[in-house]
Amino acid sequence: MSGTETSTDSGKHDFVVVSNRLPVDRVVEPDGTASWTRSPGGLVTALEPVMRQKDGAWIGWGGQPDLEFDPFESDDIRVIPVALSAREIENYYEGFSNDTLWPLYHDVIAPPTYNREWWDCYVEVNQRFADAAAEASAPGAVVWVQDYQMQLVPKLLRLLRPDVTIGFFNHIPFPPYGIYSQLPWRTQIIEGLLGADVIGFQRVADASNFQRAVRRLKGYSTKGYQVEVPLVDQSPGVRVFGEIKRQGTFRTVVARPFPISIDAQSFEELARTPAIQERARQIREDLGNPSSIMLGVDRLDYTKGIGHRLKAFGELLAEGKLSAEDVTLVQVANPSRERVQAYMELRNEIELTVGRINGDYGTIAHVPISYQHHGFPREEMVALYLAADVMLVTALRDGMNLVAKEYVACRFDEDGVLVLSEFAGASDELKRALLINPHDIDGVKDAILRAVAMPKRERTARMRSMRKRVIEHDVSRWSDEFLKVLESRAHNGTSGHELA
Ligand code: G6P
Repeated sequence: MSGTETSTDSGKHDFVVVSNRLPVDRVVEPDGTASWTRSPGGLVTALEPVMRQKDGAWIGWGGQPDLEFDPFESDDIRVIPVALSAREIENYYEGFSNDTLWPLYHDVIAPPTYNREWWDCYVEVNQRFADAAAEASAPGAVVWVQDYQMQLVPKLLRLLRPDVTIGFFNHIPFPPYGIYSQLPWRTQIIEGLLGADVIGFQRVADASNFQRAVRRLKGYSTKGYQVEVPLVDQSPGVRVFGEIKRQGTFRTVVARPFPISIDAQSFEELARTPAIQERARQIREDLGNPSSIMLGVDRLDYTKGIGHRLKAFGELLAEGKLSAEDVTLVQVANPSRERVQAYMELRNEIELTVGRINGDYGTIAHVPISYQHHGFPREEMVALYLAADVMLVTALRDGMNLVAKEYVACRFDEDGVLVLSEFAGASDELKRALLINPHDIDGVKDAILRAVAMPKRERTARMRSMRKRVIEHDVSRWSDEFLKVLESRAHNGTSGHELA
């Protein structure tokens, strides 16, 4: 699907989404022709109907440096590209977003870097996105800002456009205060987020962590899922805050969980396609018909616990509890953020481990790990999910983990076992998975053995219950619920001046 230019657009929209990445990628063919191709994310699928209904626009970055483009139409979505220079990609995207916030928000699994230039650039780029949103919004529009790269946009946009209703959704975890408080710009980020009317998190724990940070850093009170933000902010000073409270000059911000999901039906439809089922059979045959296929599908990221998974698998092979003839682990590792040092190191570590395990326990006929360092089209992913007897999700920390939900959605045959980390948001909902603590290698090994040996009856009972959850709570329900709460907050009342 490629974008086509239209000139009928008024330039003002009632519904605006702001995210770092656009739902379309700029693809340049070898012959030099370029087009925009729809990226297959669940978010765009969920928002498409709302976009159509409400004359929506999507503001984001095209994924490459200095892409200066006029807004265009792509399958009924108005796309408004924001250009980033090479320096901004380095400082705002690779630096502050992915080498400061990402590791900090994921329990400092990797050490975050605190760099003042990166912060300055994050502020600059957030301002550019806020300016673009202010420009694109019709009077009284609803603007929905996505994820950790954009945390200052709610406040910056409110200053420019006090008439719009602003939502923010954090796709990744929000860390406990003891970790969050490391951030030199911790107060500015909280203030940035509180510019929103509704702030969504994946888990109850994330919303509580955020509320605690608000109380500690701003002294505002929180009640249930509501934060009371004084219209004239004179913090620090609870006493002044108390006086304001008597005057009742507050706006309330809703900060609560809205666990994200997938377009479950479209995964199931693909899984029911005969060609994809045939492909699943072919995959099993190509792997040498092992009695069990295990599958890992992750962006190559240190939060995903790929190393822990490989350690557990390697030990089981070493102890003779599994053999390369019987079991194959297919590990899909999508290349990601390849210019960030921690990701380069991770790739080296993982590939060394895969090489060792295959060298030590493989035979000419059977390789224990089929390692794929690239993405696959969705059809191939679905075939892999169907072929996999056991799905391994061993994240050390993960906002949700949609792979776990995709696996469940595809298994209309009510078969397959999901081994799922309790540190992934999905474990709040998929309680009938085999839940593991990925740091407990013996526990992971036990779960793998249990999964491989699980009787059909138990597999069916567990999968049936997980499917019910994923099918009922799909991504359109997620966006409907968020937008319902957001729209109910319209005219929640403040002016940019009062917030300054
Ligand atoms: C996570 C984040 C998203 C991000 C995605 C891919 O899911 O929550 O905001 O887009 O990773 O990462 P990338 O850096 O390639 O956009």
